[in-house]
Amino acid sequence: MKTPLSQFPNFHVLVHPLIQHKLSIMRDKRTPTILFRQLLKEIALLMGYEVTRDLPLTSERIETPLEAMDAPTIAGKKVAVVAILRAGLGMAEAMIDLIPSARMGHVGLYRDPRTLQAVEYYFKIPADISDRDVLVCDPMLATAHSAIAAVDRLKESGAKRLKFICILGSEQGARAFAEVHPDVPVFAAAIDAKLNDHGYIVPGLGDAGDRLFGTK
Ligand code: PRP
Ligand code: URA
Repeated sequence: MKTPLSQFPNFHVLVHPLIQHKLSIMRDKRTPTILFRQLLKEIALLMGYEVTRDLPLTSERIETPLEAMDAPTIAGKKVAVVAILRAGLGMAEAMIDLIPSARMGHVGLYRDPRTLQAVEYYFKIPADISDRDVLVCDPMLATAHSAIAAVDRLKESGAKRLKFICILGSEQGARAFAEVHPDVPVFAAAIDAKLNDHGYIVPGLGDAGDRLFGTK
């Protein structure tokens, strides 16, 4: 079930027991990298089910072993999955598993630890991005500087229909993102109330990239 937050109508928290349970294990500091990575992918798959709910259907004439029928199939609309590096890679992989025909884009960003501003180091997206539904993946929406910068660049490059998918958001990030990109719906597994002085979501789950790739 997707629940819009009353103060942020474009921010949807996907409150499913499996998602909530898996997220609790991800948050636990004892959870090792191998399990963290697996859970991130499982949550992204479950979220993908809801995020893609509005993909239009058409029908195709097929023959079952018994008779002919008009079978529902995804209409020819094209999807691009965009990973915000690094941590978005794990989620994007899950989306590509769900929609194997999707093209993939990569936006390399890191947060300057002093200013918390996003610094871009890589940008490569499908040339026909303006024709595609764009699913932007990054597990964390903290200050939202990274999400805003990525969506700014994607829009500058022609993207028109975007959705932002994260595991955890913060109230500050949800507000900041909605102010700049009110047309882009955000989907999250949970939203936490606070950021600490270093811009980390509290209680959060720590540094998603480090936990995903085992770099700390
Ligand atoms: C993390 C995360 C987001 C960003 C969120 O990336 O994956 O991209 O921080 O923070 P924000 O909302 O305050 O911008 P990080 O900069 O740590 O890079 P990494 O994925 O390469 O570790
Ligand atoms: N990036 C992370 O990986 N975690 C946070 O809590 C904030 C930004």
